Amino acid sequence: MQNAPLPQTSPDTVLFTEEQIRAWSPKRRDFMRMLGLGAGAITVGGLAGCGGANANGAADVLRAQLLADEAFWTSVQGRFTLNPGKLFMNIGTAGSMPRSVVERYNAENIVYAAESQNGYTNFATQRAAMAPGFGVGTDELVISGNTSDGMSKVLLGIPWQAGDVVITTNHEHPGGTVPLGIAVERYGIIVRQVRLPTGEGSVMLNDGTMAEHNAALYGKLFRDEVVAARAAGQRVRAIMWSSPTFLTGIMLPIPEIMKVCKEFNLISICDGAHLPGMMAYNYGDLGVDFMAGAAHKWQCAPGGTGILVVRNRARANAAATLPAYYPVVTSSGSSVAGTFGTRPPRVGGGGTVPWTQRGDYDIAAAMQSIGSMNVPAFNGVAQACADWDSMGRKRIETYVLGLSSYFKERIMEIWGPGALYSPRDAGLLSALTSFNPFFGLDGTRNLIARSTATNATITASPSNALVARLNEQNIIVRNTTTPRISGAGTTQNVFPIRVSTHLWHDPNDVDRLLNAVRVAAVDIVNAAN
Ligand SMILES: Cc1ncc(COP(=O)(O)O)c(C=O)c1O
Repeated sequence: MQNAPLPQTSPDTVLFTEEQIRAWSPKRRDFMRMLGLGAGAITVGGLAGCGGANANGAADVLRAQLLADEAFWTSVQGRFTLNPGKLFMNIGTAGSMPRSVVERYNAENIVYAAESQNGYTNFATQRAAMAPGFGVGTDELVISGNTSDGMSKVLLGIPWQAGDVVITTNHEHPGGTVPLGIAVERYGIIVRQVRLPTGEGSVMLNDGTMAEHNAALYGKLFRDEVVAARAAGQRVRAIMWSSPTFLTGIMLPIPEIMKVCKEFNLISICDGAHLPGMMAYNYGDLGVDFMAGAAHKWQCAPGGTGILVVRNRARANAAATLPAYYPVVTSSGSSVAGTFGTRPPRVGGGGTVPWTQRGDYDIAAAMQSIGSMNVPAFNGVAQACADWDSMGRKRIETYVLGLSSYFKERIMEIWGPGALYSPRDAGLLSALTSFNPFFGLDGTRNLIARSTATNATITASPSNALVARLNEQNIIVRNTTTPRISGAGTTQNVFPIRVSTHLWHDPNDVDRLLNAVRVAAVDIVNAAN
């Protein structure tokens, strides 16, 4: 694309053909009319970059599938009180409470104030109702403060020994890396990082070789790292990873990573910030030891809430050992006769058991009992989970992943595969999509690689400018700073746009966003050249 003429956003060009427009739902037609974007307004040809114009029709097939159940999803949209003047596509940062949750939360706050109530409870009833939706027992499900709270509790509650190795990735969020860093200083653990590839199709690995971007690749990358550490005489204790990562939305495949944890009897710690409410995962089947997620993001519960899964029994796909763990924040336990100390009561009676005697006591109840808590907020989590269960978690997952696939296929058409930082592979798919909106537009100037920090002559990076431009149009997305493998052993920071597709969106929203991004990207490139 070097020195290729830049596409112009002329009002005479046409983005959609008459045939495509005839296939639109009435809602979509109304929407496009509102934008003044019908036939004769803008064209794919006029805006095409390096992509092929709907070569295999994959996007159109997905769009038709997504719209097949339009009445249901329109009714779902009606459950939310979102500002209708804005298009919110950054659920990865913050969700929005449905009306049922807001109303319950507000009403309970009023009662709590009127009756001067306290929050001393371990939410056993609420957790019992929620646990089946996550495939775990009540004794394995904790309502936490958020993902960071869950990750801190997990990482600082494991009795690490100096020299223990935790394998993680170079795409982790501070919610995980900061407590892990504290464990490095406090216990002398060693962290090894797997450098993650980014992109669609064939991707470059850290050794400079190319590989197909699919789920099996991650089984190999993590296994290779364990084997390399052991060969160097190190004691590998755990793997900590994000599914999906916050930078590119790659769903690091839990089953593949769990195979490695099982083979080497490692502790599995999943930063699942985006999992609750997005994916219908059964954590009991997955066998993961710890999954710290948010409830305030995709699960659309009140702010300051999370879902924390702590395995408390043997599971087919889990490592053989139930890892030793000390709850770092708890006020629950029975006193031990004749000595100072409290211990958790043995499940089924028979006195207390030591904290390390995992599986014999209710770990979730112990972790949940931390003094007086925000009952209206945590009841809001229970309400949001009940809503999701009644809509069907699998149905939601299928829809939001369908939207994500549709989005990715459109990017393939308009920009081409080189623009995509999130792979299309079904085993790596999440409802986050990360891409380079300047791909194919920027000639030799590589706008996506510019940052304010590295290029003082530009007041704001093009990626930031694009997010701001969309914001002005009431479209809310974010960008990320992503280390991308650029050669053997080297990375370069890039700044893709990250978009969340959730249950209140439909394909029209994706189209609207894509139009806005493309026009803004072309303008920014034209202004810079
Ligand atoms: C992967 C990941 N981990 C952790 C967090 C922190 O989330 P929370 O605000 O729930 O602590 C985020 C937030 O976006 C995230 O994306």
